[in-house]
Amino acid sequence: MSRSPLKVGVVGAGIGRHHLAGYRTLPDDVEIVALCDTNEARLNEIGSMYNVPRYFTDYNELFASGEIEAVSVCLPNSLHAPVSIAALEAGLHVLCEKPLAENLASGQKIAAVAAQASGKFMICFNRRYRLDVQWMKQALSEGLLGRVYHVKAGWVRETGIPGWGGWFLNKDIAGGGPLIDLGVHMLDAVMWLLDYPEPLTVTGAIQANFGPRSAKTWQVSPTPPPYTVEDSATAYIRLSGDVTLNLETSWASHARPGMDDFFITLMGTEGTLELYVANYATENTLTLYTEVGGKPVVTRPAVKVSRSDHEYAIAEFVKCIKEDTPPTASAEQGLTIMQMIEAIYQSAAVGREVVLT
Ligand SMILES: NC(=O)c1ccc[n+]([C@@H]2O[C@H](COP(=O)([O-])OP(=O)(O)OC[C@H]3O[C@@H](n4cnc5c(N)ncnc54)[C@H](O)[C@@H]3O)[C@@H](O)[C@H]2O)c1
Repeated sequence: MSRSPLKVGVVGAGIGRHHLAGYRTLPDDVEIVALCDTNEARLNEIGSMYNVPRYFTDYNELFASGEIEAVSVCLPNSLHAPVSIAALEAGLHVLCEKPLAENLASGQKIAAVAAQASGKFMICFNRRYRLDVQWMKQALSEGLLGRVYHVKAGWVRETGIPGWGGWFLNKDIAGGGPLIDLGVHMLDAVMWLLDYPEPLTVTGAIQANFGPRSAKTWQVSPTPPPYTVEDSATAYIRLSGDVTLNLETSWASHARPGMDDFFITLMGTEGTLELYVANYATENTLTLYTEVGGKPVVTRPAVKVSRSDHEYAIAEFVKCIKEDTPPTASAEQGLTIMQMIEAIYQSAAVGREVVLT
């Protein structure tokens, strides 16, 4: 176990501020050295907020500086591959934001380099580290649910198209809409809970009912910006082990005002376990349905989420570097999720099931 503080940098000062906040909770193990962003106003604002000593506007200069050992890549999706690969090739450990990349091909490039690199590569699938999701994993490992045969999962927003006018709405940069933005979290959490079974077949459908007409957005602009992604997606996926998965995601829909909820329901032969997180709730998110003596029993496990998901993910990344263990959220897992996402888009385009094996 390495005792000297790990020197870290963050590239991208949007969600990157949550990475800075996460690293800041580990003062004995981490030294925050640098922040990089092409937007100098943002760089200065966020850098001073977290007392970051060194600022860069060019990530190549940061990677060549020799000043950091690990980096968080918090950039638009199509930059995940070039920047993560540059960092790995510079010998750095990399924590890359989700999704792995904007598409499967770029994700494959990262995975190929990560497999040969001296540095560790971890993907920031932060939802799986929530304490309530971790508790679900424990319930599964203790056999509380018997055999899981069906899963319902999703993330549904009423008004929540992000980054109006920016890269989130651009298919070439983002790779897609709520499926790759929100669905990616739920797909990873479900797959992780089930020990990453093999995806076998995928049926998907996408819609863009609100974004193109600037409806149900957080911001309003007089001229609708280009909108080339979906604003809702659904999928039915068969997994190895005779498990099926229903997925639902949306950035915009007619629903409870302000709704921004994610959920995972694991249906098993001995019990059903439901996670329902309404508007980022941190308690009362779990319900277990079982039967005792032939009578239905409903239990509310008293699990409280006490830290942000990013804090958990960052603590995990630092731990795997310090203890020299494989990253728990690996490039291979990120690639499996990209394969599922790409199959959903492909199925939506051709209007029928896509067979993956
Ligand atoms: N895990 C989560 O919960 C979570 C939440 C939000 C976003 N994300 C992911 O984080 C990534 C970034 O999203 P965001 O919301 O922060 O986007 P954002 O647009 O708010 O921030 C991206 C930042 O990157 C900077 N940037 C762009 N190109 C750059 C370059 N070449 N070099 C340096 N800086 C550059 C921009 O100036 C901007 O400040 C995305 O992949 C997104 O999916 C993850």
